[in-house]
Amino acid sequence: MKALILAGGFGTRLRPLSCTRPKHLFPIANRPLLELTLEKLANNGIKKAILAVNFMARELERALGKSKYGIKLHFSSDLPDEPQAKRTFKGALGTGGPIKLAERLLGTSDPFFVLNGDILTNTNYSRIMKTHRKTDGIATIALRRVKDPSRYGVVELVDKKLIRRFVEKPSDNAPSNLINAGIYILEPDIFEYILPGKTCSLEREIFPKLALEKALFGVEIKDLWIDVGEPTDFIEANRLWLKAEKETSTHSQKTRLDERVKIKDAVAIDENVVVGNESIIGPNVALGKDVSIGNAVRIKDSIIFPHTSISDLTTIESAIIGESVTVGRQVKIKNGCLIGDNSIIRDGVTIAPDVRICPAKDISEDILRSRCVV
Ligand code: GTP
Repeated sequence: MKALILAGGFGTRLRPLSCTRPKHLFPIANRPLLELTLEKLANNGIKKAILAVNFMARELERALGKSKYGIKLHFSSDLPDEPQAKRTFKGALGTGGPIKLAERLLGTSDPFFVLNGDILTNTNYSRIMKTHRKTDGIATIALRRVKDPSRYGVVELVDKKLIRRFVEKPSDNAPSNLINAGIYILEPDIFEYILPGKTCSLEREIFPKLALEKALFGVEIKDLWIDVGEPTDFIEANRLWLKAEKETSTHSQKTRLDERVKIKDAVAIDENVVVGNESIIGPNVALGKDVSIGNAVRIKDSIIFPHTSISDLTTIESAIIGESVTVGRQVKIKNGCLIGDNSIIRDGVTIAPDVRICPAKDISEDILRSRCVV
């Protein structure tokens, strides 16, 4: 079985952290999101995966290599392999175009998986395939029930699996609260629906058409599932994964926690992390490789990327701190903040909720209202 993973989007909602790495490599309990997906796919019998890349393609290739968990990896780039000056197509192929582009790699004899690369799930992919094989459709979509469907593609389902209507991001009157979970099985017939070399949206152009032709089916999944689109989703993804995969906290062998450190489960602590006395870490915290934390620091519901250092008496709550950031003493970083890589937050600074700080900024004064510091 083959899978195509869409991993070429810009991740604009996760800027500035997605300016310096693709969101598909954001750490979930200290492991890149795509690695978790590939591991689950391998457990479900996938042998070959095509990564549909565009933005930061090289970073993805470098991070993932030629194979993972026994899955052979191919990289298919939206941008033609020709000198930049000569390129006629300069954009992105959307969520449909990369499928047509990978037609030769996917083959025309068997159905295949297509996944949004920014989904964290532990679903049973084989069960979705089993449902698909019982239909005569061109596509089967995994569906998820959510409270507020307005930011997703929403379906109207009849007879439990035929999708009568597919509406992308309905502003009002959503037909149900069953949404597109970004996991599809597609028959090779799909190639007839997508023009080569053109931007195409599966959700806006192809699925509504298939629904009209009664060729679109759905299957509800009830497992762990989250779309990592916004910063709060990323913190929630870490929380869900820590809860589901690790009953208690995990520490790498090489970490050094002082005797009077308090860890509130669940916490993931990577290699070479140092935490000073009286600090309270957790719940729902991931500390990346080489993170250094001083004394009496309080961190909860947050993600700290590798090589960052946080000095004494600082508090961080529901925030994401990028790589190689230096946070001084007695700093307060409040909920919803995103601190870009290589930034410095000087001693005593307070940062209000929902502030985003671009990479390599030096912050020496309080930021008391939500804004983006560029
Ligand atoms: P935002 O910019 O924050 O809206 O995110 P996004 O566009 O990166 O993600 P979105 O949720 O819209 O896309 C779903 C999946 O498709 C993600 O895994 C994206 O990386 C991927 N994707 C979106 N557009 C493209 C594209 O033009 N080319 C490729 N190869 N992948 C894409």
